[in-house]
Amino acid sequence: MDIQSLIAQMTLEEKAALCTGASNWTTTPVERLNIPEMVVSDGPHGVRRVPNVHEVAATSLPATCFPTASCLASTWDVALIRQLGEALAEECIALNVDVLLGPGANMKRSPLGGRNFEYFSEDPYLAGEMAANMINGVQGKGVGTSLKHFTANNQEFQRFSISAEVDERTLREIYLPAFEKAVKEAQPWTVMCAYNKVNGTFASQHDTLLNKILKEEWGFEGLVVSDWGAVRDRVAALQGGLDWEMPGPQDRRVKEVIAAVQSGSLDEAVLDESVRRILRIVYKAQETPKTGEFDVDAHHELARQIAAEGMVLLKNNGVLPLKDQQHIAVIGRSAEQAHFQGGGSSHINPTKVAVPFKELQAQASNAELTYAAGYPADNSFRPEMIDEAVTLAQAADVAILYIALPTFKESEGYDRADLDLTEQQVALIKAVAKVQPQTVVVLNNGAPVAMGDWIDGVAAVLEGWMMGQAGGGAIADVLFGRVNPSGKLAETFPLKLADTPAYLNWPGGAGVVRYGEGLFIGYRYYDTKEMPVQFPFGYGLSYTSFEYSNPQVSAATFKDVDGVTVSVDVTNTGSVAGKEIVQVYVHDQVAGLVRPFKELKGFAKVALEPGETKTVSIALDFRAFAYYHPEYAQWITEDGAFDLLIGASATDIRQNVTVNLESTLDLPCILDKESTIREWMADPRGRAIFGPQYTQMEAEARKAFGGEDNERYGTDGSIGMDIMEMFSDMPLVSVLMFQKDALPAHPEDMVAGLLAQVHGQ
Ligand code: BGC
Repeated sequence: MDIQSLIAQMTLEEKAALCTGASNWTTTPVERLNIPEMVVSDGPHGVRRVPNVHEVAATSLPATCFPTASCLASTWDVALIRQLGEALAEECIALNVDVLLGPGANMKRSPLGGRNFEYFSEDPYLAGEMAANMINGVQGKGVGTSLKHFTANNQEFQRFSISAEVDERTLREIYLPAFEKAVKEAQPWTVMCAYNKVNGTFASQHDTLLNKILKEEWGFEGLVVSDWGAVRDRVAALQGGLDWEMPGPQDRRVKEVIAAVQSGSLDEAVLDESVRRILRIVYKAQETPKTGEFDVDAHHELARQIAAEGMVLLKNNGVLPLKDQQHIAVIGRSAEQAHFQGGGSSHINPTKVAVPFKELQAQASNAELTYAAGYPADNSFRPEMIDEAVTLAQAADVAILYIALPTFKESEGYDRADLDLTEQQVALIKAVAKVQPQTVVVLNNGAPVAMGDWIDGVAAVLEGWMMGQAGGGAIADVLFGRVNPSGKLAETFPLKLADTPAYLNWPGGAGVVRYGEGLFIGYRYYDTKEMPVQFPFGYGLSYTSFEYSNPQVSAATFKDVDGVTVSVDVTNTGSVAGKEIVQVYVHDQVAGLVRPFKELKGFAKVALEPGETKTVSIALDFRAFAYYHPEYAQWITEDGAFDLLIGASATDIRQNVTVNLESTLDLPCILDKESTIREWMADPRGRAIFGPQYTQMEAEARKAFGGEDNERYGTDGSIGMDIMEMFSDMPLVSVLMFQKDALPAHPEDMVAGLLAQVHGQ
């Protein structure tokens, strides 16, 4: 399709209309020119295709509800995520959907975020890997995706209006990299902007984010779509890089665009560029015919496999896997009414649902199963339900408690108020554990819950997440050991809410939420502050054990642009087959700016038979060592030593190799008139030019303020301090001001002269 000639044939009215949807889920077709419509649907972990895309409907066509992103990320299995993407694409093709609205790559800034279940991780590297692989899976089959919500959409409180106040370095290092990786490695057909403002400007009209960073810097080729209802000023949004407004129709907005072009306040070339981006995707979608059916059973099986891979065994005193138990008390209403997805736009109408109780029964050939609901669907306190459960648990050999965080506590649209289960659920767990030492808790929730009140009293805890429609079977697989659990946490489980990084700045007010914790979210915070947590990032148990040995690096000293590869031997030292997730964190020994203690920069999931050893190799590139320097306005590396920490979790580091990086960057000189003496001396050019003067200054300071032994420190009768240390953090001009009478020129002129020299003028 020759898009440029098509644009040339379009009227201004047609172009303006194309930049807004025709309905909740479609682009505006242009019949005169045979420009077809394109259909989009949510997303992200299933296809929510309404029967008639031109009408608003609450119920969608049946589709597979896969586990939500918290569970997906806990698999750490990029091949499996790609497979999930392929399955989603197959369903889109069968259900006539051109673009799936997902995945979500926002960071889990606080465990209270209402939509955390739809997001992957607190770590941008892991989230980026997941998003890129999911997108490649979907798009490899000719169906588009929408990477969302760009960006700093980390809470539901005032999500349509609040301004996320994030400093530039934090944006670059925490809130952008998952998007960046996904764009660079997978080129999603569309990117969806966030509702909120970022540093005072709506994400829907954010020239820096949309035009400069996403399109120009990262080379995003697709179209930017608004989140549904995120556009306030259509013309400003077009100028800011927002191509397609959703939902439609929006006659008034279309007229505004036409008027703006006619009055000259909007350059028609800006409109044409958005039209070009939209048409490119509309025609790309045409290349994949939407026909046929998808394999309901195969996808249900895949959903089960993913759920089992993503579940995380948090605690196990040996009760799991379940032996040939005689009598199992199954307690908790989510054993009968599976809680497998979250509320809101991602809600899927499942093709079928595996009932956890029945699935358990199917695998418990020699066991007798009894059931009590244990807690009500609402928030009421029902002691008689607890009593019933206790009686059941007492009579059994083991009790399995299915505890699901209710929707009124966790959903899109509102944040969580706390990390707690319901009062009834906590009381139930405690009461059952008191009479039954072999109590296993199975959790269904999208984000961490507090466990301090009860975890010591129970024998095992399985984090089952929002596990998708087949999750009931996956729980049984893991409990009975048909599947050896291998999921690991993609987010920290804190001990309590007050420990969480964003606690003091959450959820904001008066129109702003300040990201005061900066770079330090998730394990970056707990780690750097050496704080204890309930379960660390990257943690998860197995029914076997693994040993790490023989760490190697491809080079002890390497250039940043070459990167370095680290390898380690992993051995399954237990008696059953299992999978281990090897994580590589990078610790910068000395950095010019403050950095988190360590950061995840690579991982691999490896399957091992009992006794088997495999060598796992992980390549680390420039970005694994770099940080974003706001003054250079770029990612920089610095010469020096880095520790490569190879671990089974963020707090379980098994091996450590130190490497030396040689930076190849030729950074511009950023000294200016406010640069301090220390900064002058740290810069190679600054040191060369100002160095001799510094030596002289130091000698004079010693004479004037130092002791008799020529120390820099003053003695009695002197000033009693290291004067040079104080001078070091003063701008050069300020120090010179103290000496101005002795200087040949005015201090400001002297500094200007030195600056001219360092900048090569
Ligand atoms: C959500 C998006 C979703 C869109 C369409 C919005 O409210 O934030 O994630 O894709 O609705 O349903």
